[in-house]
Amino acid sequence: MSKFITLEGIEGVGKTSNLQFIENLLQEAGHSCVVTREPGGTELGEALRNILLHHQGEAMSADAELLMMFAARAEHLDKVILPALKAGKMVLCDRFTEATYAYQGCGRQLGEEKIAQLETWVQGDLRPNLTIVLDAPIDVGRSRAGRRSAPDRIEKEKDDFFQRVRDCYRQLAQRYPHRIALVDASLPLEQVQTQIKRVLLDYEIL
Ligand code: TMP
Repeated sequence: MSKFITLEGIEGVGKTSNLQFIENLLQEAGHSCVVTREPGGTELGEALRNILLHHQGEAMSADAELLMMFAARAEHLDKVILPALKAGKMVLCDRFTEATYAYQGCGRQLGEEKIAQLETWVQGDLRPNLTIVLDAPIDVGRSRAGRRSAPDRIEKEKDDFFQRVRDCYRQLAQRYPHRIALVDASLPLEQVQTQIKRVLLDYEIL
């Protein structure tokens, strides 16, 4: 049966290695799986991602940023996510609308009303079956992310921005426990993966 699974968290919490881990578990369980990401996942979406992460010069307005996230999402749903779900596949997506609530809603302080309207417009009643939030204090994320490449436009934000993003993810998990699970990502990788596997079993994904 097709399921839509998304992975979220602030920078440096281990999204990339855990995405691979989840894909392996799904495949071992015999599921055909499409792995994709937001913003991105389509030609147009990747072009928008490039603007969103690397635009220079005049500062981008928060509304323009929000609308581009949803433009990329509309294209992604149309070209990749909905066709895969209709074909009975598992879709595993690196970030989705919970990131918009966290980054634009709380990080940029746009609030949730505009996002909720766009969510309904673009997605109707489609929501991920399961969102795993990799949660860790921002200094843990910062020190791990800092070892990688130069920060992009969003990664350049200050600590208070990422604190709001983290708090928002935690609140979303409290509000929607039936579809959002928090995993303690400050622990060693092996223990993080034990928790992820437990979540996938508890939410009847595996
Ligand atoms: P990443 O997926 O490589 O971590 O980078 C994507 C960046 O885009 C990350 O900083 C989070 C940000 N983002 C938003 O601000 N809003 C969104 O809706 C999504 C999907 C991502």
